[in-house]
Amino acid sequence: MKLLLGLSLLFYTWLFANDMTRTYAPSEDCKACHTQIYDEFSASMHAHSTPQKDVIHNAVWEKHPQNTKQERYGCGKCHTPAADNLNAMKTPGQKAMPDMNNATHQAGISCAYCHRIKSIEHHPVHNTNIMTHTQKNYFGTLEEHMESPYHGIVSEGNEHMKNGNVCIGCHSHKMNKHGLNVCSTNIDNSMDDANCVSCHMPKVQGSVSNLHKREKHTFHGFAGSHFHSDMLSKYVNISVLREISDFIVNIDNQTSHALLLHPLRTAVLKVSVTRDANTTHLQDEIFVRIIGKDGKPAMPWAADKTLKDTMIQANEKRSVSYDFKLMQGDRVDVVLGWFLVNPKALKTLKLENEKVATEFTVFKKESFQF
Ligand code: HEC
Ligand code: HEC
Ligand code: HEC
Ligand code: HEC
Ligand code: HEC
Repeated sequence: MKLLLGLSLLFYTWLFANDMTRTYAPSEDCKACHTQIYDEFSASMHAHSTPQKDVIHNAVWEKHPQNTKQERYGCGKCHTPAADNLNAMKTPGQKAMPDMNNATHQAGISCAYCHRIKSIEHHPVHNTNIMTHTQKNYFGTLEEHMESPYHGIVSEGNEHMKNGNVCIGCHSHKMNKHGLNVCSTNIDNSMDDANCVSCHMPKVQGSVSNLHKREKHTFHGFAGSHFHSDMLSKYVNISVLREISDFIVNIDNQTSHALLLHPLRTAVLKVSVTRDANTTHLQDEIFVRIIGKDGKPAMPWAADKTLKDTMIQANEKRSVSYDFKLMQGDRVDVVLGWFLVNPKALKTLKLENEKVATEFTVFKKESFQF
């Protein structure tokens, strides 16, 4: 018994010593020199990934058995990866919960964390990021760079920063204990000239740092379904085809993953026809992936089946036909957008009064004149 206790103590010492070597410089440290990148990052979901800063994450976490039983915060692996007690957070019974007053928790997916990802280990449940142990040495991809007075720059072995592999430790898939893939991004990136980084972090105006003027830097606001979706709308094309007695709206998703990924999302296609001064709103088309159990929608940890999947898939061209005869002079207005939270789940999650969960985001809006 004593030996066992000793051994487990040793194990925990090792675990937490391991945590200690993983302290990450705070993102605020980067602000003085990388002001523009810092400002973009600070407004992104990566800086708001914690229950205290993301009401949608919080609403789901509130219901999660790990929380109701006050066991652990397993979400930390991806949502608070820079936490100074990450191993405790992931360990059942340690009761290490995300804390508003702990800056390493609220740092989210911080600058130093992401820039210290060395490689990705693949696992069936979810992948794992392998981190460097040298603090203040960051992977970068600039073709040539000046020295930084604050940190080292690692340019060797930086391919994962360019080809998007750096993202798939957290974004590739998440399997629950019933073997259901709750959220999956197609990482078998079949597009030659685009990847997670080139689409979600395009080059934009403004210098990389304040110490050396450059025209452009990599956008760190992480365009996505909460913010900056306008930067991604060029990857989805909409066209309208007029037929004899009806018409078809084509949505061409030129993305290597489904239009939306998280099972809470609901995409909506709104179509209306204006003839003379009269506008007719046609029935909304809904795109969702609903997960559930025993035929009913269920929370991600309880679901064991995909009940319905009408989400527009990777590289899919979806045609929606409207039983409406178009005439010369008609204008068809098409709006493609989404609710971050499926309106049917608002009540269960107590999100009815949260703007971010209830408002409709317009992703793409186009008019076609006939
Ligand atoms: C340590 C884990 C982790 C890594 C690494 C990571 N992400 Fe994320 N990412 C997250 C989490 C968690 C969220 C969700 C945050 C939330 O909504 O609370 C997220 C959200 C996003 C979003 C949604 C933004 C929005 O507006 O809705 C995009 C886009 C994104 N990440 C892109 C990337 C890209 C590109 C990379 C690689 C350069 C990357 N992520 C690397 C964990 C990670
Ligand atoms: C393997 C990494 C990983 C783990 C573990 C993880 N998440 Fe996430 N989570 C993500 C990523 C990546 C996103 C962004 C996905 C997207 O926008 O499609 C995300 C997004 C979310 C969102 C949507 C947030 C929003 O603002 O719309 C919720 C809710 C969520 N996670 C809840 C949880 C909860 C609760 C846990 C723990 C029980 C958890 N996640 C564990 C990676 C993870
Ligand atoms: C005292 C100023 C200073 C501070 C503080 C600073 N950096 Fe830098 N950083 C630089 C300079 C200068 C460069 C090189 C820029 C160039 O060549 O245009 C650089 C380059 C980089 C690069 C790119 C390297 C490449 O080759 O692509 C990364 C990544 C980076 N910094 C991350 C960080 C992070 C993360 C922080 C905060 C934890 C930080 N920096 C804080 C000055 C600073
Ligand atoms: C060809 C461009 C392209 C590539 C490549 C791409 N994406 Fe996307 N991504 C999009 C578009 C378009 C959307 C939908 C619009 C939006 O969310 O603003 C999107 C949405 C997302 C979202 C939000 C989904 C949600 O449900 O909230 C996340 C997270 C994301 N992508 C992560 C990734 C990751 C990680 C990779 C690499 C494995 C990747 N993307 C590769 C274009 C791309
Ligand atoms: C989710 C991961 C992630 C986070 C968080 C992140 N970066 Fe980056 N960063 C990248 C990737 C990937 C690249 C390389 C982009 C490329 O090659 O196109 C990059 C490039 C850079 C560069 C190189 C110059 C440039 O503009 O291309 C600097 C400097 C930098 N990041 C600093 C920061 C700072 C400072 C923060 C926080 C304020 C931060 N990064 C947060 C993933 C991240």
